[in-house]
Formats: sequence, structure tokens, C-alpha cells
Amino acid sequence: MSNILAISDVHVAFGGLKAIDGCTFEVEKGTITALIGPNGAGKSTMVGSIAGAVSLTSGSITFDGQEISHLPTYRRAQGGLIRTYQISREFGGMTVLENLLVVRLGQSGESLINAVFRPKKSKTETNALVGEANEILNTFGLYRLRNEYASNLSGGQKRLLELSRAVMAKPKMLLLDEPMAGVTPALIEILGQHLLDLNKGSGMSMLLVEHNLEVVDKICSRVVVMATGKRLAEGTLAELRSNRDVVEAYLGGEVHERIGS
Ligand SMILES: Nc1ncnc2c1ncn2[C@@H]1O[C@H](COP(=O)(O)OP(=O)(O)OP(=O)(O)O)[C@@H](O)[C@H]1O
Ligand SMILES: [Mg+2]
Repeated sequence: MSNILAISDVHVAFGGLKAIDGCTFEVEKGTITALIGPNGAGKSTMVGSIAGAVSLTSGSITFDGQEISHLPTYRRAQGGLIRTYQISREFGGMTVLENLLVVRLGQSGESLINAVFRPKKSKTETNALVGEANEILNTFGLYRLRNEYASNLSGGQKRLLELSRAVMAKPKMLLLDEPMAGVTPALIEILGQHLLDLNKGSGMSMLLVEHNLEVVDKICSRVVVMATGKRLAEGTLAELRSNRDVVEAYLGGEVHERIGS
């Protein structure tokens, strides 16, 4: 099995604070790999570094065989590396459907030129895009809300929209930073199943930052544990449950509650 993502001795500092302090790990192609660890471990900073929003102090990041750490975010996204945020970032003034369409119109950069100079071609392309978007909205249970303004959606529906937008971009790999945060238990179940279906259906790789270990247990085949900016351990959740370092660093006093042993 080959890797889709390789993080090699990455350092990130914010002023004097070492948010990532020599972190190395890999994500195998076609897997959902979890990135867990205590608050402030550097997980979101790692996701930002992989996506291109945070600059490395040193180290390298290879995605799909290419060194990407010098590339701007949009180039990484064009290459198939798409992130979602800890807090949803939909366009509130656009409808749900439009929120999906702009993902791809923005991606090609061609569509505006087509709309002006080749309106017929543009119309066919737009119809195809609308078809694709509707199909994704249907999968995520948002089809009936397609003409609703995104700002009118509930928190849970915004999560589904965020995921739909990410899928619309046809990523090779999704970076998900706490997609279940602030979501009801029923929706957590549904979101987890959607992620699993996407992974099984199209082989989409994912790196999932998640505090909810039940979700991790259900959908992730590998788990990377970060603490104080470093990779502390790696394995299946079952293996990690019996790892003393992990239990102590990650879970401290709440060990038994959180890791379920
Ligand atoms: N933009 C920033 N400027 C300065 N310090 C930052 C910045 N972003 C993160 N940090 C600091 O870097 C460290 C790692 O933060 P990060 O958000 O990556 O942790 P995390 O593992 O995602 O935590 P959580 O589980 O709470 O989301 C923390 O000490 C945090 O305060
Ligand atoms: Mg975080």
C-alpha cells in the first residue's frame, strides 16, 4: 500500500511557541486515518499546514508523490487536497445549491470566460454541474433545502453543507477538522456513515481530527496520536488503548472515561 500523504519532521512556530515540534507520520492511500490528541496538541495547526494556510518553519509535506509545502492553498486544492474547518464556512448569502456550484466554478476559472464567449457550451456545462450538485445534496439529505439560503440552515445542516461542498470539489483526500463538533448524536451517526460510504465508494482518503473516540473507532482504520506538537504514537485504537504513554499524555485524569478502558 502506498502513502497519499507523508509528513516529515514538520516544525511550526508562532512567535516563540512551538505548535508543531518535529512531527512525522503518514496516511495510507484509501484509508480514513484519525488524528487525535489533547487540546493544544497541534492538530488544527497540522491540518492548516497540510492545507497550506500555515507556513512550516521546517520539514516537508508530500501529497500524492509531490512535495507541496511550498505550494499555495489553491494549488493544493487543485491537486485534490481539500479541507473542512472546525467551524463551518458556508456562504450565507447564497443558496445551498449555489454554495456547491461555486466550488467548481471557482476551481476551473474557465467558466466565466465560457459564459461570456461560449454561452451554449457554458449552459451545458452548468446543467451538468447542477446535476452533480443535486446528486451530492441528495446523498447528504439536503436536496429539499437546495434553494434555501445557507444562513438559514441549522448548525447540523451547515456541517452537512460543508461536507457536500468538500465532496463537490472531487478531492483525492479530505482533511476534516472536528466535523462532528456541535452536532447532535443522531447526526454524528449519519455524518460518520457518510464519511465511511465516501471512503468505501470512491476510495477517498481522509485525515480526520476528532475528539469523539466512538466515531474514530467506527470509521478509522489507523490512529495517529499527537501531543505537544509531536507524534506520540500510532496504531489501531485497540492498540493505543493499551499504550501507557498515550493513555497518560492524551487522557491524563480522564483516561478511563475517554478511551473506554
Ligand atoms: N494562529 C496562532 N497564533 C498563535 N498561536 C497559535 C495559533 N494557532 C494555534 N496556536 C497555538 O498552537 C498550539 C496548538 O494549537 P492547535 O489549535 O493546533 O491545537 P489542537 O490540537 O487543534 O487543539 P484543539 O483540540 O483544542 O482544537 C496551541 O498552544 C495554540 O494556542
Ligand atoms: Mg483544533
